[in-house]
Amino acid sequence: MKYLAALALALAVAQATPVERGDDRPQGIDVSSYQPNINWDDVVRNGIKFAYIKATEGTYYVSPTFNSQYIGATNVGLIRGAYHFARPDKTSGAVQAEYFLEHGGGWSPDGNTLPGQLDIEYNPYGPECYGRSASEIVSWIKDFSDTYKDRTGRYPVIYTTTDWWTTCTDNSPAFGETNPLWIAHYASTAGTLPAGWEYYSFWQYADKGPNPGDADLWNGSYGNLKKFARGG
Ligand SMILES: *[C@@H]1O[C@H](CO)[C@@H](O)[C@H](O)[C@H]1NC(C)=O
Repeated sequence: MKYLAALALALAVAQATPVERGDDRPQGIDVSSYQPNINWDDVVRNGIKFAYIKATEGTYYVSPTFNSQYIGATNVGLIRGAYHFARPDKTSGAVQAEYFLEHGGGWSPDGNTLPGQLDIEYNPYGPECYGRSASEIVSWIKDFSDTYKDRTGRYPVIYTTTDWWTTCTDNSPAFGETNPLWIAHYASTAGTLPAGWEYYSFWQYADKGPNPGDADLWNGSYGNLKKFARGG
């Protein structure tokens, strides 16, 4: 009975996170205005090492909680960065990259700032691929990415799912050599990655967990994460 209870608990924990005991890969969270009041001390106590915070969407939305979340994460010493929700149906990639940069999406080599992340995925407002062809989507991403690189010296991280990427970019391999991949896949492994990438840098493995927001993992050590933040 006791053994079964312990087993059930172990299984529940195993389901809550694909991270195994002894796995020292840094865990992180990503948050938006859906998590307006975060107790960052608790987040740190729970072992979280990094956070990505939603800054902007299209050229019409700045998250009202971005500043307070970014300051909160900074004050407790987390490595943190900002993300932009792509609207390839609205304005050009370059214009959206500039908007992101003007509203918290910048990068500096201080060791605590992660390069900006482009969240490009299922359209919550209309047709899955924003009514754009695969080649238009690829060009849009390239325009965003090149503009961000030009202004900051870093390529943005690309956040997506293999399913969306396959459907909406025709599984383009165009970014694997340049942009770090943040794969979203809620399962015990990250699954098949989109074309072009041989590995993921970040993995969003759950849309909930013991901490606010989504649950993420960095594929490497804490030292590697610091190095990545510094741009090394
Ligand atoms: C993690 O990153 C390393 C390279 O740093 C890579 O060799 C490995 O395949 C990656 N693991 C996954 C699961 O992507």
